[in-house]
Amino acid sequence: MSNDHNQIKGKKHFEIKQVEKITDEHWKLLLLADPSKDLVERYLQSGKTFEFRKNTKLAAIMVLKEVSQFKLEIKNIAVDPAFENQGIATRLLKYAFCYAKKHQYQQVLIGTGSTSFKQLYLYQKMGFRISHVKRDFFVKNYKYPIHENGLLLRDMLVLVADLTELKNDYYKG
Ligand code: ACO
Repeated sequence: MSNDHNQIKGKKHFEIKQVEKITDEHWKLLLLADPSKDLVERYLQSGKTFEFRKNTKLAAIMVLKEVSQFKLEIKNIAVDPAFENQGIATRLLKYAFCYAKKHQYQQVLIGTGSTSFKQLYLYQKMGFRISHVKRDFFVKNYKYPIHENGLLLRDMLVLVADLTELKNDYYKG
């Protein structure tokens, strides 16, 4: 589970593995998903970080953190812009589901901005459903205003995937 080696179309090789040492290269990705270094540092300590390498190049990162005995949260997921829209986040989300199932979690949570349309599309496509809203989360927790898709980001939407309701092929990694 800690290593996921695969071939894409028989040629392109990718690997997902847990990382212990966070490098500057990892930081660049982490801050794409969450511009608050303070918040990221906090969940890096208690969470588990996974990197995605495509043909040995770092392409994406994901941080998983236990919320409670039955709940796992994806605290951070980010793909290098050069590798976007190639299905890498989809693979990482499937990996998170496999990890959650293996470790007996029942639900996987993910929080994202209410203005993050691509993310909301992807997460709902992968089986996440909106659970609740953290109103003014981004206004209260971030030093600077965040604008996305032409809107001021204020609220966080928390989405939950119930593992018993997910399609079986989401566990294939
Ligand atoms: N609106 C809606 N859907 C879109 C848009 C858009 N503007 N652009 C692309 N898409 C679709 C793609 O067509 C694709 O769908 P499809 O598979 O049905 O064709 C899907 O969105 C993208 O799927 P992937 O390729 O698996 O995703 P990708 O590898 O590009 O990663 C991610 C998505 C993680 C959101 C990446 O864009 C990224 O790192 N963004 C910046 C950081 C970020 O916002 N991270 C998430 C924050 S929330 C958190 O970390 C908990």
